[in-house]
Parts: sequence; structure tokens; C-alpha cells
Amino acid sequence: MKKRILTGIKPTGQIHLGNYMGAIKPALELAKDEQYDAFYFIADYHGLTRTPDPEEFKELSYGIAATWIALGLDYEKSVFYRQSDIPEVFELNWILACYASKGLMNRAHAYKAIVDENKKNGNDLDDGVNMGLFTYPILMAADILLYNSNTVPVGKDQIQHVEIARDLAQTFNKKYGATFNLPEYKVDADTAVLPGLDGRKMSKSYNNTIPLFSDEKKLLKLIKKIKTDSSLPGEPKDPDQSNLFSLYKQFADAEQIAEMRTAYEQGISWGEAKQQLFEVMNEALREPRERYQELMGNRDKLDQILKEGAEKARSIATPMMKDIRTKIGL
Ligand code: TRP
Repeated sequence: MKKRILTGIKPTGQIHLGNYMGAIKPALELAKDEQYDAFYFIADYHGLTRTPDPEEFKELSYGIAATWIALGLDYEKSVFYRQSDIPEVFELNWILACYASKGLMNRAHAYKAIVDENKKNGNDLDDGVNMGLFTYPILMAADILLYNSNTVPVGKDQIQHVEIARDLAQTFNKKYGATFNLPEYKVDADTAVLPGLDGRKMSKSYNNTIPLFSDEKKLLKLIKKIKTDSSLPGEPKDPDQSNLFSLYKQFADAEQIAEMRTAYEQGISWGEAKQQLFEVMNEALREPRERYQELMGNRDKLDQILKEGAEKARSIATPMMKDIRTKIGL
């Protein structure tokens, strides 16, 4: 049997280039790998812990779906669905919650970070913590275990959550016999960390991102904002110290990269280097951007794709839950 690979994508913000290079691209490559069946879903319940505005939330969820498909996710071959279309995940969430000690949740990083911050600021320790946030790792464990996932590609910040899922699976298996696979996280070590406009890691929290599907004008405008040093046109530049060059490498082919390297050494102006970066980026993003816009203009199609994905997911989740219910005596 093929191994199952599963990951959830939270609808919490506009997708930017850093998300694409750091998470989406590697995940799409894994989905193409013949040894895996890919389960990719929109983790909208997890997004709810931030109590977002309903209209914006809906828009972001569609945006995530359209982005993945526009970038090449094969929704017929993989299982692509909305978490909130799978009622079984809640059933398992509750069951797992009854086997998860509160202490385990107290030790979860995301919760602990808020408590520490509150402590520092002299606030009530649980200020700003809702129960969704507190029990977040349990729902995530349910996401993973419901489909007997083997491999969970995540960012470093999510490792602990996968470990918690593994812990809960073990606890359950010990009591009721082999039921869940023990999932393993997969952190892509050589995933590109993309520099943002200010040179720091591109991240929503630094407000230095380039949205993936900015229109051409906006894209050029943002590229022009990328910070460079003050070396003048004609002065040799070290490509390996340049954020522009790091970005260029992600979009250009080997030959273009080699040529650009020489151009830097021969003193290309920053203005020209930016223009060249724009050209390769725009070229690479043009088609997906068009597909994205088309999909965003056709919500019925997105709904249909996600509905079919949910049916596939439930065809696995339903028998799984039946087995679990039997085992625990429900
Ligand atoms: N917590 C993940 C994140 O913030 C999203 C997520 C939800 C997830 N459920 C999951 C990731 C299950 C992997 C597996 O990025």
C-alpha cells in the first residue's frame, strides 16, 4: 500500500512568495512522488482560533484552494478538501481529547508562548487564550490520525504538534490494540528561506512579503522596494550577499543564473538587477496567476472540487471511525 502524506494549510493570510517556496512547492513535489497518496486540506477550523471576520475568512479559504490548484495540485489524483466538510474529524477530536492529559496541552509551544508573554506583561496568564487555541494540537492529531497518515510535511514550528499526535496514537493503540499508524513529521531541511523586502525572512509577521499573485504592476513596484546596499552602477557586486540574487535564483534557470552571476560581478546596476528579477518572476507566475484568477471567479467550481475531495476523504474517515467506536465501546 502507498504511504499517506498529509498536511493542512491554514487560511490565515494572503499567500506570499515565502509560503510558496517554503511550503507549497515542496509539498507539491511530494504529491507527485509515486510512493505517496497525498491528502492536503484547508485547515479552516484551525483558522477559527483567531476568530476572523466571516467574509474575510471565507475569501481566504477560497484563496488557499485556488492557489494550490493554480500552482499545480492535481486534485483528481490527490485528496484535497476542506477540514470543515469532515464531521468525523470532530468525533475523533473529542475521543482523543479524552485521552490527552491537560499537562500535555500546557506544554504545547504555541500556548506556552502566549502564557510567557502574559507573564512578562503582568497579565492574567490565560489572557487571549480560547479553548480552541488551547486544544489546537488535539484537533491537529485528529486530522492526522483519521486517515492513518504516515508522513506529515510541516514547518519546524509544527514538529511538536506531530509529536503530540504520535503520543496520542500510541496511548490509544496501547489501550485498544493497533489502530493508528504512528505519524512522522517531515521537515524539509533545504527548503528555501526567501528574503523579504527588507532582507529578513519573508514573513507575514514582518510585513515584508510579496503576495504570490500580485498583478504585474504591483509586483514590479514591490520588487523596486527590495532593500539593496549603496553600491553604484559599475561597481562589482557579490551575488551571494544579495537578496535580489537569492530571489532571482528561485525563478531563473541554470543558464540565466550563471549569466546573472557574471553580470553582478561586472557591476550591473541595482535598478537593472531588479528589472531582470521582475522579468523572470513575472514569467514564472503569469500562468498560475491567470489560473488563480479564473478559479477565484468560479467559486462553484472550487466548491465542487472540494466537495469531491471531501467525499474521498470521508470514504476513508467513515470506516476508520466505525472501527474506533467499536473498539472503545461506543
Ligand atoms: N497547524 C498547522 C499550521 O499551522 C496546520 C494544520 C492543521 C496541520 N492540521 C494539520 C498541518 C495536520 C499538518 C497536519 O501550519
